[in-house]
Amino acid sequence: MSEIAFLLNGDPVVLTDLAPTITLLDWLRETRGLTGTKEGCNEGDCGACTVMVTGNDGARALNACILLLPQLHGKAVRTVEGIAGPDGALHPVQREMIDHHGSQCGFCTPGFIVSMAVAHLNGRTDHNDQLAGNLCRCTGYAPIIRASEAAATQPVPDWMEEDANKVATVLTGDIPPAGGDDQTFLPETIADLAAWYLDHPDATLIGGATDVGLWVTKQLRELRPVAFLNRIDEMRRIDITDDGVRIGAGATLSQLHAAMGDLHPSLAEMIRRYGSVQVRNAATVGGNIANGSPIGDSPPALIALGATLHLRRGDTLRAMPLEAFFLSYGKQDRQPGEFVEAVSFPRQPDRLRCYKLSKRFDQDISAVCGAFNITVDDGSVTAARIAFGGMAGTPKRASAVEAAITGQPWTADTIDAAWDAWAQDFTPLSDMRASADYRMETARNMLMRYFLDSIGGVTSVLEVHP
Ligand SMILES: Cc1cc2nc3c(=O)[nH]c(=O)nc-3n(C[C@H](O)[C@H](O)[C@H](O)COP(=O)(O)OP(=O)(O)OC[C@H]3O[C@@H](n4cnc5c(N)ncnc54)[C@H](O)[C@@H]3O)c2cc1C
Ligand code: FES
Ligand code: FES
Repeated sequence: MSEIAFLLNGDPVVLTDLAPTITLLDWLRETRGLTGTKEGCNEGDCGACTVMVTGNDGARALNACILLLPQLHGKAVRTVEGIAGPDGALHPVQREMIDHHGSQCGFCTPGFIVSMAVAHLNGRTDHNDQLAGNLCRCTGYAPIIRASEAAATQPVPDWMEEDANKVATVLTGDIPPAGGDDQTFLPETIADLAAWYLDHPDATLIGGATDVGLWVTKQLRELRPVAFLNRIDEMRRIDITDDGVRIGAGATLSQLHAAMGDLHPSLAEMIRRYGSVQVRNAATVGGNIANGSPIGDSPPALIALGATLHLRRGDTLRAMPLEAFFLSYGKQDRQPGEFVEAVSFPRQPDRLRCYKLSKRFDQDISAVCGAFNITVDDGSVTAARIAFGGMAGTPKRASAVEAAITGQPWTADTIDAAWDAWAQDFTPLSDMRASADYRMETARNMLMRYFLDSIGGVTSVLEVHP
């Protein structure tokens, strides 16, 4: 591709004639000799490669192993080598990690330091969540959390604020316009993407690269042509009006998490367990839908909210109920040259509950993910939208169960009476995440959990009640 420019630990870097799929981690370690950023899993799971990336929307922690260099165009990258001050003064998180004995073998430590420094900069004190994407096999997390707590009481060092200023002053206006060549395209508008994709229908679109990055690092795939969507500001917006919510395909799961906090807190809580901070900061809603995964977490919730998917091919717009997009395993209703532009759903009273079951509580792909949105008037069910991931080859509505409970009294007996309907909706598979029987039983139990929740019962597995 032609040229990309970004800041690395405060200094401008311009790269030309770049293969589009070089990861930041490989480039840092092999080309720049910055070996502080570690390679653990090389698939976004361990956080050893965490770097800080600052754009015009603030600083984020990201996993360098699944971050492709063109995604950095116009941004500032800070590695663990850039966390201490220019005169060598330790950052508060570094000092506190020493004082609290937060490191033993030290392999995970650079990743922790960067995650902690970004959280510190952003004033985040939910340390468990902020560090859920950093794995340590030997120290134990308590000293690390204590170090984070101690650092949180101290001011942000001046040098940590520099990237945001430099992105605004040094880079903005100075970087080459987004563009690229026939093989790599960095559009800045939806219209430009639409026109280019029409001419290159065999291209790979790259949102956050949390799936595509693994095609590169694990399957060693050469991807060309490619288009990176992360510079299209109009596609990264989440618009909330009195009538509805429209989520641009390029909005990240972190953005969705923040936007859903007040509207649909159960969805926000589910997203808190989606990947890790680093993964949610990269992964896009459009990617989570377009990949057609049967275990993607956002589609069931969006389907339960009555979402409409907005597709675009050239100048032609197409809209459909989100559930209609998923035709069968690995097959979606998308034409060559057509892409996901947005997903929207109507404003509604919050009745949504999302239940994500995974082997590990944090940062684990769902075995079963159920989303329930049931309306009860005068003691009877008047409308029901129930959707699941992990129960079929696609995200899928529980249409027979919905029909079985609609018009019935909202009681435990109605839920029991719907027992057979589940088998009409789903024939789940057994795989490494769960057996078919487990999936069916837990899905059925989730409806009872929703019922108990609706009548004020105790349902959270994390709460202890006398
Ligand atoms: C460590 C880790 C943990 C994860 N945990 C979870 C989890 O808990 N829950 C979960 O659901 N997923 C999880 N994932 C999977 C992944 O994060 C999601 O599927 C993610 O939403 C993909 O979005 P992306 O923007 O990164 O997609 P990309 O990797 O950029 O793209 C994925 C696919 O979608 C296509 N695409 C992207 N955007 C568009 C568009 N606008 N129009 C058309 N096609 C498009 C791409 O061409 C590609 O085929 C995890 C991944 C990792 C690495
Ligand atoms: S090396 Fe494990 S997340 Fe990147
Ligand atoms: S200190 Fe050894 S892995 Fe964390």
